Amino acid sequence: MQSPFIVNEQALSLYRYPISQNNRSLQAWDAADEYLINYLTENDLLNKDSKVLVVNDSFGALSINLLNYSTTMVSDSWLAHRGLEENIAQNHLSADNLTISDSLTNLPNDANVVLYKIPKSKALLAEQLIQIKRQLSSDIIFIAAARAKDIHSSTLKVFEKYLGTTTTSLAVKKARLVFCQLDNQQTHQSPFPTVWPLEGTPYNISNHANVFAREKLDLGARFFIPHLPNIKPNQQVIDLGCGNGVIGLTLLNTQPAAQLTFVDESFMAVASAKQNIENNLPDAAEHCQFVVNDCLSGFEANSVDVVVCNPPFHQQQATTDHIAWQMFNDAHRVLKHGGELRIIGNRNLAYHIKLKRIFGGCKTIASDKKFVVLSARK
Ligand SMILES: C[S@@+](CC[C@H](N)C(=O)[O-])C[C@H]1O[C@@H](n2cnc3c(N)ncnc32)[C@H](O)[C@@H]1O
Repeated sequence: MQSPFIVNEQALSLYRYPISQNNRSLQAWDAADEYLINYLTENDLLNKDSKVLVVNDSFGALSINLLNYSTTMVSDSWLAHRGLEENIAQNHLSADNLTISDSLTNLPNDANVVLYKIPKSKALLAEQLIQIKRQLSSDIIFIAAARAKDIHSSTLKVFEKYLGTTTTSLAVKKARLVFCQLDNQQTHQSPFPTVWPLEGTPYNISNHANVFAREKLDLGARFFIPHLPNIKPNQQVIDLGCGNGVIGLTLLNTQPAAQLTFVDESFMAVASAKQNIENNLPDAAEHCQFVVNDCLSGFEANSVDVVVCNPPFHQQQATTDHIAWQMFNDAHRVLKHGGELRIIGNRNLAYHIKLKRIFGGCKTIASDKKFVVLSARK
């Protein structure tokens, strides 16, 4: 059981989402959340006219303290959306003043206070600051927060470049705040989506800011592509953790009659995958599905022929293997008997041990010094 999140003498039970994840020692909030909420209170920055925009709240630690104000929480993460909803329910709070929004929807342009958790991805940081500058008034209160070790001078330069004059607070419990005064200079042009050609094909891959491998093909995916399974017409196939959809696109290239479902927890990833199939294989797009979801939760058991997956090993700032576990367990549940999970992984992650536990065994399809492609059948 985790200790409660206590700010302003209010104790809240906050959990990371999904609640079932193995690594329960990871907290659902950090010192930067505490610092930001305490700073707002101590400086009396909110009043009944405040319209608060919270960006990148991990699992609701910020938003849940702002439910008395008109608040919008924006995040590219489906898990962050669900985490906030679950934590509100868990603490028996009312969400009447709260809107939860994805990263591709316009920001509420009447927001006058922006609380910004600095993301790991510099690309997402730049894109979000460009959108804030473009869509909000220059007299907003803007405060960003992160662990001090994640705020570098290069990070502050990004704030200076896209928003305006930037200052920082002292560090408290190893967290720091960043204050920006928006200037009146012209907004920068967004460099996103980025587009790169998929080598050996006529296809172009388009990527929103928060998409994995947005600048070029991932090395793991490059090793995976020649070792993908042969798909028969009309088979049900899932590209799990699809990112820009490059793995599913490659399968559709060889078997355009396959029924492909692209799944990712990033709204930007799923939007990019959809765009990439529509642009490159418009006929196949008609029988594809694009789903923002936590792994395969809610998918029907025994319904799918093949799952392909290049699993992640981070959730937000934390390195963790619980998502790979969940992906493999979900794939096992969702596959038909005889169905195949085919994955790529770094050798040192030893995914064969997990597959042995879940499927009873697995076969090595290919390997080199760095990567291994494994196949497990249900
Ligand atoms: C290593 S990337 C692979 C992307 C793409 N398939 C490729 O090979 O370039 C892993 C992907 O898993 C997604 N992901 C992370 N957690 C997830 C979850 N709980 N459910 C679904 N997708 C998730 C990430 O957003 C990321 O796009």
